[in-house]
Amino acid sequence: MSIAQNTETDAKLRCISCGATPASAAQDFRCSACGDLLEFFFPGWTSDSPAFDPAALKSLWLNRRTSRDALDQSGVWRFRELLPHISDPEEHVITLREGNTPLYRLPRCARAVGVENLHAKHQGMNPTASFKDTGMTVAASSAHQGGFRWVACASTGNTSASMAAYAARGNMHSLVLIPDGKISWGKLSQSLDYGALTCQLRTDFDGCVRILNELVRQKPVYLLNSVNPYRIEGQKTAAIELMEQLAWEPPDHIIVPGGNLGNSSAIGKALLEMRELKLISRLPKLSIIQAHGANPFYRSVREFGGKKLEPMTADTLATAIRIGNPASWKKALRVLQATGGEVEEVSEVEIAAAKAEIGADGIGCEPASAVTLAGLKKLRRSGFVKSGEAVVLILTGHLLKDPDFTIKFHRGDLFAGTGDAAEAVQTKHLQRAPVVLDADLGAVIAALDAAERNSK
Ligand code: F0G
Repeated sequence: MSIAQNTETDAKLRCISCGATPASAAQDFRCSACGDLLEFFFPGWTSDSPAFDPAALKSLWLNRRTSRDALDQSGVWRFRELLPHISDPEEHVITLREGNTPLYRLPRCARAVGVENLHAKHQGMNPTASFKDTGMTVAASSAHQGGFRWVACASTGNTSASMAAYAARGNMHSLVLIPDGKISWGKLSQSLDYGALTCQLRTDFDGCVRILNELVRQKPVYLLNSVNPYRIEGQKTAAIELMEQLAWEPPDHIIVPGGNLGNSSAIGKALLEMRELKLISRLPKLSIIQAHGANPFYRSVREFGGKKLEPMTADTLATAIRIGNPASWKKALRVLQATGGEVEEVSEVEIAAAKAEIGADGIGCEPASAVTLAGLKKLRRSGFVKSGEAVVLILTGHLLKDPDFTIKFHRGDLFAGTGDAAEAVQTKHLQRAPVVLDADLGAVIAALDAAERNSK
């Protein structure tokens, strides 16, 4: 077993802090010299001797859309020229045809926010219903290539479901560590069905991460959290696919939720690499939004100028981003600064309202994804986003992940008895509680007529 770097590829590992370039990564994917995170870089991509002809690359990627080959049909491996190489792909690549996610216009949200051009890239339309699949296909394939029998992750839900599916497809065993009682039933049920050994630990996500980091030092288990740089590489493809969908004309802003901060790092890395390779001519501003109750990165940037990050005990109903000690904060800071993006925080009520507004556009997403629209509203108010600018929200997870949250919101119970109850009154107009009636035609017609009157 090894996490050896493949010598056939141009991709090399480098520490983000001390710049060390180890030939292979340790089990915890941390630099053995300074303990910081590793990333892939591609030394062959120099601006003096272009590695690729941008036009030829774009047309190769487009042509693969018509191919019958499993790798080409994946919205991740279709872009394999920008990914670390996996040897013998027939044998080692595990794909569920991830990626290929739709880009939707959000006309009602656009009107409500006051921007003319608003799109959502819906990463919840991946095979296990979150963006995690795009990174998981690459990292799980790397585990398979390394001959691992066990893979493992700590998760707030989506990573565990994704990992369990890819492990099962690749005939590997998977170990899931999740916070007891703090993840959605939908996600837990996915892990169980896909055959993971699922441990609900009496702690939070950050506590699960601590235990897992110890475990991988003692057991031959392959770590699949987003500190694994293969995850980041796969997650880059959401941004590449987005640019292709926009005919390689970058939007002015891309807005992402921030939890452990792997996804923002990945999307930012892709933007910078695409500019370096002349696939795009300018950079969108990448902004990162956190929930107020889980805002260590927001505070790091706003209070400490990004010089340090103070871990916190996180608390938010957006369980996916209930993270107080984000592993990839330095990577995210770098892309925030390089693209000129902003960091914002939003309240629980703002998240719930934004989720219902996205839903009213016929799209729907999980609470963590809705922070993007809530954040956009604030960025519009502050003037950072202008009305004529093009904006893309990255929706990271599916509406059906958290039906409890959604039903409670529409019934008006979500904030009952909490400190947010007063603020939540403002969201009444967005609530659409189910109507319970007798099985009587007249009652249904009366409900229909009343709804029609109210819709005017
Ligand atoms: N949105 C969703 C739906 C998520 O599941 C997550 C993270 C994020 C946003 C934040 O992304 O961590 O890369 O900044 N979910 C984790 C999990 C950590 O275990 O599924 P991030």
